[in-house]
Amino acid sequence: MKNMDTTLAKAEMKGLSNCRTGQFYDDVICGLSSTPKFLSSMYFYDAVGDKLFQDLMNCDEYYPTNCELEIFSEKTAEICNAIIGDGDAFDLIELGAGDATKSTYLLKYLLDNGADFSYLPIDISSNVISYLNITLPVTLPGLQMTGLNGEYFNMLTKASTLSDKRKVIMFLGSNIGNMPVDVAEGFCMNVRNHLSPGDMLLIGVDLKKNPATVLAAYNDKEGITKRFNLNLLERINRELDGDFDVTQFEHYPIYDPETGACKSYLVSLTDQQVNINGMHTINFAKDEYIFMEISQKFTIQQVDDMARKASFKPVTHFFDTKKWFTDAIWVAE
Ligand code: AVI
Repeated sequence: MKNMDTTLAKAEMKGLSNCRTGQFYDDVICGLSSTPKFLSSMYFYDAVGDKLFQDLMNCDEYYPTNCELEIFSEKTAEICNAIIGDGDAFDLIELGAGDATKSTYLLKYLLDNGADFSYLPIDISSNVISYLNITLPVTLPGLQMTGLNGEYFNMLTKASTLSDKRKVIMFLGSNIGNMPVDVAEGFCMNVRNHLSPGDMLLIGVDLKKNPATVLAAYNDKEGITKRFNLNLLERINRELDGDFDVTQFEHYPIYDPETGACKSYLVSLTDQQVNINGMHTINFAKDEYIFMEISQKFTIQQVDDMARKASFKPVTHFFDTKKWFTDAIWVAE
């Protein structure tokens, strides 16, 4: 499995360049023609998937969002003071800003305390950037912001051409956990390569905890996580003219407390064939699985090691009261 995870994630980082064009169709065909089969969790987030993810974040078992919200709402001053440092002007850049709920706590505090900064949210979704461009100037008058729509590293390169102020990057929500560990390390190195010594990364990471707590978060009683996974098959039906019968697939999450890897699979309940676009027939044997997602959990030691491997100095950890999640500040060396 490790090799397959790594292949998938490396392919994701390269825009799936080992599949023909990097487009949704090619990625799906590439993943479903592989042994074992896989799909990329980055495709979970169409309009239906976004809504399901919102529902997930509000369900009882899915704890990471509430833990990080607690950190941002309870430790706002400490986080901001760490970011402000000596008071030099800075660009606050958020990778995958979404609706900026968490960062709004920081933005408000920074504005109220006269910090000299600009906010640069980066998101692959143009809808997200349009939404932030419209809403943030209203909710946060006086905020200097430039929304950047595109792929993270292209936009980081662009950000460095827009100003030579020091950079503080935020990568929240344990999105780093959706990459296998070696790929996550490579991602952090790539972030570091876009920074100068003294620049910072504020990174949100989900920590190892009672295995039953982790597993329940990815196997909620209401079945939202199941629908979240199955939605990708439905998306293939909607957008690629597929004919998946989603009732014939079962959601199977597992958590390995030794490695900290939480993985989701969809398992075929029967021998079946799925056609995509009238062009490709995919055969499934009964009990064959599609690997859907990894949500890696870390120890604090692993978080610090990841910082050092990527030439950052781990400086501070902020925790929620249960110590289930951390937002760590790393300084580029
Ligand atoms: C976005 N990402 C950090 C979530 C996670 O916890 O891995 C996505 C998710 N998948 C199932 N539930 C939530």
